[in-house]
Amino acid sequence: MAELVGGAFLSSFFQLALEKLYSSDFVDYFCRGKLDETLLEKLVVTLNSINHVLEEAETKQYQSMYVKKWLDELKHIAYEVDQLLDEIATDAPLKKLKVESQPSTSKVLGFFSSFTNPFESRIKDLLVKLDFLAKQKDMLGLKQDTCASNEGGVSWKPSQRFPSTSLVDESGIYGRDDDKEVIIKSLLLDIDCGNQVPIVSIVGLGGMGKTTLAQLVYNDNKIKENFEHRAWVYVSETFDVIGLTKAILRSFHSSTDGEDLNLLQHQLQQELIGKKYLLVLDDVWNRSEECWERLLLPLYHGSVGSKIIVTTRDKEAASVMKSTKLHNLKQLGKSECWSMFVRHAFHSRNASDYPDLESIDIRNRSVVFIRG
Ligand SMILES: Nc1ncnc2c1ncn2[C@@H]1O[C@H](COP(=O)(O)OP(=O)(O)O)[C@@H](O)[C@H]1O
Ligand SMILES: [Mg+2]
Repeated sequence: MAELVGGAFLSSFFQLALEKLYSSDFVDYFCRGKLDETLLEKLVVTLNSINHVLEEAETKQYQSMYVKKWLDELKHIAYEVDQLLDEIATDAPLKKLKVESQPSTSKVLGFFSSFTNPFESRIKDLLVKLDFLAKQKDMLGLKQDTCASNEGGVSWKPSQRFPSTSLVDESGIYGRDDDKEVIIKSLLLDIDCGNQVPIVSIVGLGGMGKTTLAQLVYNDNKIKENFEHRAWVYVSETFDVIGLTKAILRSFHSSTDGEDLNLLQHQLQQELIGKKYLLVLDDVWNRSEECWERLLLPLYHGSVGSKIIVTTRDKEAASVMKSTKLHNLKQLGKSECWSMFVRHAFHSRNASDYPDLESIDIRNRSVVFIRG
Protein backbone atom coordinates (compact mmCIF):
# COMPACT_ATOMS: atom_id res chain seq x y z
CA MET A 1 0.00 0.00 0.00
CA ALA A 2 2.79 2.45 0.98
CA GLU A 3 4.30 1.80 -2.41
CA LEU A 4 0.98 2.31 -4.12
CA VAL A 5 -0.08 5.63 -2.69
CA GLY A 6 3.47 6.99 -2.56
CA GLY A 7 3.70 7.38 -6.31
CA ALA A 8 1.31 8.16 -9.11
CA PHE A 9 -0.74 5.07 -8.31
CA LEU A 10 -3.38 6.57 -6.09
CA SER A 11 -6.04 5.51 -8.56
CA SER A 12 -4.98 1.85 -8.16
CA PHE A 13 -5.50 2.22 -4.44
CA PHE A 14 -9.01 3.53 -5.05
CA GLN A 15 -9.84 0.63 -7.36
CA LEU A 16 -8.63 -1.85 -4.73
CA ALA A 17 -10.48 -0.09 -1.92
CA LEU A 18 -13.71 -0.06 -3.94
CA GLU A 19 -13.32 -3.73 -4.82
CA LYS A 20 -12.89 -4.51 -1.11
CA LEU A 21 -15.99 -2.50 -0.24
CA TYR A 22 -18.00 -4.40 -2.86
CA SER A 23 -16.79 -7.79 -1.56
CA SER A 24 -19.35 -10.05 0.04
CA ASP A 25 -17.43 -10.08 3.36
CA PHE A 26 -17.72 -6.33 3.72
CA VAL A 27 -21.33 -6.11 2.61
CA ASP A 28 -22.14 -9.03 4.89
CA TYR A 29 -20.39 -7.33 7.82
CA PHE A 30 -22.32 -4.10 7.39
CA CYS A 31 -25.64 -5.76 6.67
CA ARG A 32 -25.46 -8.02 9.71
CA GLY A 33 -26.00 -4.87 11.72
CA LYS A 34 -22.41 -4.44 12.86
CA LEU A 35 -22.24 -1.11 11.09
CA ASP A 36 -24.70 1.34 9.65
CA GLU A 37 -25.26 0.28 5.99
CA THR A 38 -25.60 3.87 4.85
CA LEU A 39 -22.00 4.46 5.94
CA LEU A 40 -20.81 1.79 3.52
CA GLU A 41 -22.92 3.36 0.81
CA LYS A 42 -21.60 6.88 1.50
CA LEU A 43 -18.02 5.61 1.55
CA VAL A 44 -18.45 3.90 -1.83
CA VAL A 45 -20.14 6.92 -3.41
CA THR A 46 -17.60 9.43 -2.07
CA LEU A 47 -14.59 7.30 -3.05
CA ASN A 48 -16.12 6.85 -6.48
CA SER A 49 -16.71 10.55 -7.00
CA ILE A 50 -13.05 11.27 -6.14
CA ASN A 51 -11.86 8.31 -8.20
CA HIS A 52 -13.37 9.90 -11.32
CA VAL A 53 -11.02 12.88 -11.20
CA LEU A 54 -7.86 11.14 -10.01
CA GLU A 55 -6.31 10.65 -13.40
CA GLU A 56 -6.76 14.29 -14.21
CA ALA A 57 -5.49 15.38 -10.80
CA GLU A 58 -2.38 13.24 -11.19
CA THR A 59 -1.65 15.01 -14.48
CA LYS A 60 -2.56 18.49 -13.30
CA GLN A 61 -0.53 18.33 -10.09
CA TYR A 62 2.52 19.41 -12.07
CA GLN A 63 0.75 22.56 -13.26
CA SER A 64 -1.06 23.55 -10.09
CA MET A 65 0.29 23.59 -6.55
CA TYR A 66 -3.28 23.53 -5.27
CA VAL A 67 -4.01 20.28 -7.08
CA LYS A 68 -0.69 18.90 -5.74
CA LYS A 69 -1.71 19.88 -2.20
CA TRP A 70 -5.14 18.30 -2.73
CA LEU A 71 -3.51 15.06 -3.88
CA ASP A 72 -1.10 15.06 -0.91
CA GLU A 73 -4.00 15.40 1.49
CA LEU A 74 -5.84 12.66 -0.35
CA LYS A 75 -2.84 10.35 0.05
CA HIS A 76 -2.88 10.86 3.83
CA ILE A 77 -6.56 9.99 3.98
CA ALA A 78 -6.00 7.03 1.63
CA TYR A 79 -3.55 5.58 4.19
CA GLU A 80 -6.18 5.91 6.90
CA VAL A 81 -8.90 4.36 4.70
CA ASP A 82 -6.60 1.48 3.78
CA GLN A 83 -5.73 0.82 7.42
CA LEU A 84 -9.37 0.91 8.43
CA LEU A 85 -10.43 -1.47 5.65
CA ASP A 86 -7.69 -3.89 6.69
CA GLU A 87 -8.86 -3.79 10.28
CA ILE A 88 -12.48 -4.39 9.27
CA ALA A 89 -11.36 -7.23 6.98
CA THR A 90 -9.60 -8.90 9.92
CA ASP A 91 -12.51 -8.29 12.23
CA ALA A 92 -15.24 -9.48 9.83
CA PRO A 93 -14.49 -13.24 9.67
CA LEU A 94 -13.84 -13.28 13.40
CA LYS A 95 -17.17 -11.65 14.22
CA LYS A 96 -18.94 -13.94 11.75
CA LEU A 97 -17.52 -17.00 13.48
CA LYS A 98 -18.47 -15.70 16.93
CA VAL A 99 -22.03 -14.86 15.93
CA GLU A 100 -22.53 -18.23 14.26
CA SER A 101 -21.32 -20.17 17.29
CA GLN A 102 -23.50 -18.20 19.73
CA PRO A 103 -26.95 -19.32 20.87
CA SER A 104 -29.71 -17.30 19.24
CA THR A 105 -30.45 -15.05 22.27
CA SER A 106 -26.87 -13.80 22.42
CA LYS A 107 -26.97 -13.24 18.64
CA VAL A 108 -29.72 -10.74 19.28
CA LEU A 109 -27.69 -9.13 22.07
CA GLY A 110 -24.70 -9.09 19.73
CA PHE A 111 -26.76 -7.26 17.17
CA PHE A 112 -27.77 -4.55 19.62
CA SER A 113 -24.22 -4.10 20.86
CA SER A 114 -23.40 -3.04 17.28
CA PHE A 115 -24.27 0.50 18.34
CA THR A 116 -20.88 0.67 20.02
CA ASN A 117 -18.94 -0.59 17.01
CA PRO A 118 -15.55 1.13 17.22
CA PHE A 119 -15.23 1.49 13.45
CA GLU A 120 -18.33 3.58 13.10
CA SER A 121 -16.90 6.84 14.43
CA ARG A 122 -13.67 6.36 12.43
CA ILE A 123 -15.63 5.87 9.20
CA LYS A 124 -17.64 8.99 9.99
CA ASP A 125 -14.43 10.99 10.57
CA LEU A 126 -12.97 9.74 7.28
CA LEU A 127 -16.19 10.57 5.46
CA VAL A 128 -16.02 14.17 6.70
CA LYS A 129 -12.44 14.45 5.41
CA LEU A 130 -13.20 12.77 2.08
CA ASP A 131 -16.31 14.86 1.60
CA PHE A 132 -14.30 18.00 2.21
CA LEU A 133 -11.86 16.98 -0.54
CA ALA A 134 -14.65 15.89 -2.88
CA LYS A 135 -16.25 19.33 -2.55
CA GLN A 136 -13.02 21.00 -3.71
CA LYS A 137 -12.90 19.09 -7.02
CA ASP A 138 -14.93 21.65 -8.96
CA MET A 139 -13.02 24.62 -7.59
CA LEU A 140 -9.79 22.97 -8.71
CA GLY A 141 -11.21 22.42 -12.19
CA LEU A 142 -11.15 18.64 -11.76
CA LYS A 143 -14.41 17.82 -13.42
CA GLN A 144 -13.92 17.50 -17.16
CA ASP A 145 -13.72 13.72 -17.14
CA THR A 146 -17.26 13.35 -15.92
CA CYS A 147 -18.94 14.90 -19.00
CA ALA A 148 -16.55 14.95 -21.88
CA SER A 149 -15.42 12.04 -23.88
CA ASN A 150 -13.90 11.53 -27.25
CA GLU A 151 -14.64 7.85 -27.36
CA GLY A 152 -17.96 8.29 -29.13
CA GLY A 153 -19.76 5.51 -27.30
CA VAL A 154 -21.03 4.61 -23.89
CA SER A 155 -18.02 3.20 -22.16
CA TRP A 156 -17.38 1.30 -18.98
CA LYS A 157 -14.23 0.05 -17.34
CA PRO A 158 -13.49 -3.51 -18.45
CA SER A 159 -13.22 -4.86 -14.92
CA GLN A 160 -16.70 -3.69 -14.09
CA ARG A 161 -20.19 -5.06 -14.60
CA PHE A 162 -21.80 -6.02 -17.89
CA PRO A 163 -24.17 -3.43 -19.27
CA SER A 164 -27.75 -4.16 -18.30
CA THR A 165 -30.53 -4.67 -20.85
CA SER A 166 -34.31 -4.50 -20.60
CA LEU A 167 -34.72 -8.28 -20.79
CA VAL A 168 -35.62 -10.19 -17.65
CA ASP A 169 -36.61 -13.74 -16.77
CA GLU A 170 -39.64 -12.95 -14.61
CA SER A 171 -40.07 -16.55 -13.43
CA GLY A 172 -37.04 -16.16 -11.15
CA ILE A 173 -38.03 -12.86 -9.57
CA TYR A 174 -39.68 -12.78 -6.16
CA GLY A 175 -41.49 -10.28 -4.00
CA ARG A 176 -41.40 -7.03 -5.92
CA ASP A 177 -45.11 -6.77 -6.76
CA ASP A 178 -45.78 -3.84 -4.41
CA ASP A 179 -42.73 -1.88 -5.54
CA LYS A 180 -43.68 -2.52 -9.15
CA GLU A 181 -47.22 -1.24 -8.63
CA VAL A 182 -46.00 1.91 -6.88
CA ILE A 183 -43.60 2.73 -9.74
CA ILE A 184 -46.18 1.96 -12.43
CA LYS A 185 -48.74 4.15 -10.68
CA SER A 186 -46.40 7.12 -10.67
CA LEU A 187 -45.50 6.53 -14.32
CA LEU A 188 -49.13 6.53 -15.38
CA LEU A 189 -49.91 9.65 -13.36
CA ASP A 190 -49.93 12.87 -15.36
CA ILE A 191 -48.06 15.45 -13.35
CA ASP A 192 -47.14 18.93 -14.42
CA CYS A 193 -43.40 19.50 -14.44
CA GLY A 194 -43.39 22.55 -16.64
CA ASN A 195 -41.40 21.83 -19.75
CA GLN A 196 -39.35 19.11 -18.02
CA VAL A 197 -39.90 15.36 -17.97
CA PRO A 198 -40.89 13.76 -14.65
CA ILE A 199 -38.13 11.49 -13.33
CA VAL A 200 -38.87 8.48 -11.13
CA SER A 201 -35.72 7.34 -9.31
CA ILE A 202 -35.24 3.88 -7.82
CA VAL A 203 -32.59 4.19 -5.12
CA GLY A 204 -30.90 1.42 -3.11
CA LEU A 205 -27.68 -0.39 -2.31
CA GLY A 206 -25.86 -2.28 -5.05
CA GLY A 207 -27.41 -5.69 -5.70
CA MET A 208 -30.66 -4.71 -4.02
CA GLY A 209 -32.65 -5.26 -7.22
CA LYS A 210 -33.03 -1.77 -8.71
CA THR A 211 -32.29 -2.83 -12.28
CA THR A 212 -34.53 -5.87 -11.90
CA LEU A 213 -37.41 -3.73 -10.68
CA ALA A 214 -36.92 -1.32 -13.59
CA GLN A 215 -36.96 -4.32 -15.97
CA LEU A 216 -40.20 -5.61 -14.45
CA VAL A 217 -41.81 -2.20 -14.88
CA TYR A 218 -40.45 -1.74 -18.41
CA ASN A 219 -41.93 -5.06 -19.57
CA ASP A 220 -45.29 -4.67 -17.88
CA ASN A 221 -48.27 -4.69 -20.26
CA LYS A 222 -49.83 -1.50 -18.84
CA ILE A 223 -46.56 0.29 -19.47
CA LYS A 224 -46.25 -1.12 -22.98
CA GLU A 225 -49.78 0.05 -23.77
CA ASN A 226 -49.25 3.49 -22.31
CA PHE A 227 -45.81 4.23 -23.72
CA GLU A 228 -45.57 3.45 -27.39
CA HIS A 229 -41.93 4.42 -27.40
CA ARG A 230 -39.67 2.86 -24.82
CA ALA A 231 -35.91 2.96 -24.55
CA TRP A 232 -33.37 1.37 -22.19
CA VAL A 233 -29.91 2.84 -21.73
CA TYR A 234 -27.20 1.60 -19.39
CA VAL A 235 -25.36 4.63 -18.02
CA SER A 236 -22.75 3.28 -15.52
CA GLU A 237 -20.00 5.21 -13.77
CA THR A 238 -18.56 6.78 -16.87
CA PHE A 239 -20.78 9.63 -17.96
CA ASP A 240 -20.28 10.38 -21.64
CA VAL A 241 -22.85 12.84 -22.96
CA ILE A 242 -22.16 12.11 -26.65
CA GLY A 243 -22.14 8.35 -26.20
CA LEU A 244 -25.29 8.49 -24.09
CA THR A 245 -27.14 10.70 -26.59
CA LYS A 246 -26.22 8.21 -29.32
CA ALA A 247 -27.29 5.29 -27.13
CA ILE A 248 -30.66 6.96 -26.47
CA LEU A 249 -31.14 7.59 -30.20
CA ARG A 250 -30.29 3.97 -31.03
CA SER A 251 -32.61 2.76 -28.29
CA PHE A 252 -35.43 4.72 -29.95
CA HIS A 253 -34.49 2.90 -33.18
CA SER A 254 -32.95 5.95 -34.79
CA SER A 255 -29.67 5.77 -36.67
CA THR A 256 -26.75 7.84 -35.37
CA ASP A 257 -24.09 9.54 -37.42
CA GLY A 258 -21.00 11.36 -36.30
CA GLU A 259 -19.83 12.72 -32.98
CA ASP A 260 -21.22 16.23 -33.18
CA LEU A 261 -23.24 16.77 -30.00
CA ASN A 262 -25.17 19.65 -31.52
CA LEU A 263 -26.37 17.54 -34.46
CA LEU A 264 -27.10 14.55 -32.28
CA GLN A 265 -29.15 16.63 -29.84
CA HIS A 266 -31.19 18.15 -32.68
CA GLN A 267 -31.76 14.68 -34.10
CA LEU A 268 -32.96 13.37 -30.74
CA GLN A 269 -35.21 16.38 -30.21
CA GLN A 270 -36.80 15.87 -33.65
CA GLU A 271 -37.17 12.15 -33.00
CA LEU A 272 -39.16 12.75 -29.81
CA ILE A 273 -41.50 15.54 -30.92
CA GLY A 274 -45.10 14.34 -30.65
CA LYS A 275 -44.13 11.05 -29.00
CA LYS A 276 -45.00 9.86 -25.52
CA TYR A 277 -41.97 7.94 -24.39
CA LEU A 278 -40.51 6.09 -21.44
CA LEU A 279 -36.75 6.13 -21.04
CA VAL A 280 -34.86 4.04 -18.49
CA LEU A 281 -31.43 5.33 -17.47
CA ASP A 282 -29.96 2.40 -15.58
CA ASP A 283 -27.15 2.66 -13.03
CA VAL A 284 -26.59 6.38 -12.77
CA TRP A 285 -23.63 7.70 -10.74
CA ASN A 286 -23.04 11.19 -12.01
CA ARG A 287 -23.80 14.04 -9.61
CA SER A 288 -23.08 16.95 -11.91
CA GLU A 289 -26.10 19.12 -12.59
CA GLU A 290 -24.40 20.58 -15.65
CA CYS A 291 -23.91 17.14 -17.22
CA TRP A 292 -27.53 16.18 -16.65
CA GLU A 293 -28.88 19.42 -18.01
CA ARG A 294 -26.88 18.86 -21.18
CA LEU A 295 -28.05 15.28 -21.60
CA LEU A 296 -31.69 15.86 -20.74
CA LEU A 297 -32.29 18.97 -22.85
CA PRO A 298 -33.46 17.19 -26.05
CA LEU A 299 -35.61 14.87 -23.94
CA TYR A 300 -37.93 17.72 -22.93
CA HIS A 301 -39.53 17.65 -26.37
CA GLY A 302 -41.63 14.51 -26.09
CA SER A 303 -45.40 14.58 -25.58
CA VAL A 304 -47.02 15.24 -22.22
CA GLY A 305 -46.97 12.08 -20.12
CA SER A 306 -43.46 11.05 -21.13
CA LYS A 307 -41.38 9.78 -18.19
CA ILE A 308 -37.84 8.83 -17.26
CA ILE A 309 -36.90 6.07 -14.81
CA VAL A 310 -33.48 6.31 -13.17
CA THR A 311 -31.82 3.62 -11.09
CA THR A 312 -29.01 4.71 -8.81
CA ARG A 313 -27.24 3.87 -5.58
CA ASP A 314 -26.77 7.52 -4.91
CA LYS A 315 -29.57 9.65 -3.44
CA GLU A 316 -27.51 12.72 -4.19
CA ALA A 317 -27.42 11.86 -7.93
CA ALA A 318 -31.20 11.37 -7.85
CA SER A 319 -31.72 14.77 -6.26
CA VAL A 320 -29.29 16.51 -8.65
CA MET A 321 -31.45 15.16 -11.49
CA LYS A 322 -34.46 16.75 -9.77
CA SER A 323 -36.34 13.47 -9.49
CA THR A 324 -40.07 13.96 -9.08
CA LYS A 325 -40.36 10.66 -7.22
CA LEU A 326 -37.76 8.82 -5.21
CA HIS A 327 -38.45 5.15 -4.51
CA ASN A 328 -36.21 3.70 -1.80
CA LEU A 329 -35.80 0.01 -2.50
CA LYS A 330 -35.81 -2.17 0.59
CA GLN A 331 -34.48 -5.68 1.20
CA LEU A 332 -36.65 -8.59 0.16
CA GLY A 333 -38.67 -10.29 2.89
CA LYS A 334 -37.46 -13.55 4.46
CA SER A 335 -39.89 -15.77 2.60
CA GLU A 336 -38.95 -14.33 -0.80
CA CYS A 337 -35.27 -14.84 0.02
CA TRP A 338 -35.97 -18.45 0.97
CA SER A 339 -37.87 -19.02 -2.30
CA MET A 340 -34.93 -17.57 -4.18
CA PHE A 341 -32.47 -19.78 -2.33
CA VAL A 342 -34.57 -22.88 -2.97
CA ARG A 343 -34.76 -22.06 -6.68
CA HIS A 344 -31.02 -21.64 -7.03
CA ALA A 345 -29.93 -24.43 -4.68
CA PHE A 346 -32.43 -27.14 -5.66
CA HIS A 347 -33.30 -26.11 -9.20
CA SER A 348 -36.57 -27.82 -9.96
CA ARG A 349 -36.29 -30.31 -7.08
CA ASN A 350 -38.24 -30.00 -3.84
CA ALA A 351 -36.52 -28.56 -0.74
CA SER A 352 -38.55 -30.87 1.51
CA ASP A 353 -36.63 -33.82 0.01
CA TYR A 354 -33.66 -32.61 2.08
CA PRO A 355 -34.95 -32.64 5.70
CA ASP A 356 -31.39 -32.59 7.12
CA LEU A 357 -30.95 -29.04 5.92
CA GLU A 358 -33.50 -27.73 8.40
CA SER A 359 -31.50 -29.18 11.29
CA ILE A 360 -28.44 -27.10 10.40
CA ASP A 361 -30.52 -23.94 10.27
CA ILE A 362 -29.70 -23.38 6.62
CA ARG A 363 -32.99 -21.58 6.13
CA ASN A 364 -32.04 -18.69 8.39
CA ARG A 365 -28.45 -18.56 7.26
CA SER A 366 -29.23 -18.50 3.57
CA VAL A 367 -31.90 -15.87 4.07
CA VAL A 368 -29.46 -13.65 5.99
CA PHE A 369 -26.95 -14.11 3.18
CA ILE A 370 -29.33 -13.30 0.32
CA ARG A 371 -30.91 -10.32 2.06
CA GLY A 372 -27.45 -8.90 2.60
N1 LIG B 1 -36.74 -9.76 -6.49
C1 LIG B 1 -35.77 -10.53 -6.94
N2 LIG B 1 -35.94 -11.88 -7.02
C2 LIG B 1 -34.95 -12.67 -7.46
N3 LIG B 1 -33.74 -12.23 -7.88
C3 LIG B 1 -33.51 -10.92 -7.83
C4 LIG B 1 -34.51 -10.00 -7.36
N4 LIG B 1 -34.00 -8.75 -7.43
C5 LIG B 1 -32.75 -8.87 -7.91
N5 LIG B 1 -32.45 -10.17 -8.16
C6 LIG B 1 -31.19 -10.68 -8.68
O1 LIG B 1 -30.15 -10.07 -7.92
C7 LIG B 1 -29.08 -9.67 -8.75
C8 LIG B 1 -28.83 -8.18 -8.56
O2 LIG B 1 -29.98 -7.46 -8.96
P1 LIG B 1 -29.93 -6.07 -9.69
O3 LIG B 1 -31.30 -5.73 -10.09
O4 LIG B 1 -28.89 -6.08 -10.77
O5 LIG B 1 -29.43 -5.13 -8.51
P2 LIG B 1 -29.02 -3.58 -8.54
O6 LIG B 1 -29.47 -3.00 -9.84
O7 LIG B 1 -29.73 -2.97 -7.36
O8 LIG B 1 -27.53 -3.54 -8.37
C9 LIG B 1 -29.47 -10.03 -10.18
O9 LIG B 1 -28.86 -11.25 -10.51
C10 LIG B 1 -30.97 -10.19 -10.11
O10 LIG B 1 -31.43 -11.15 -11.05
MG1 LIG C 1 -28.31 -2.11 -11.37
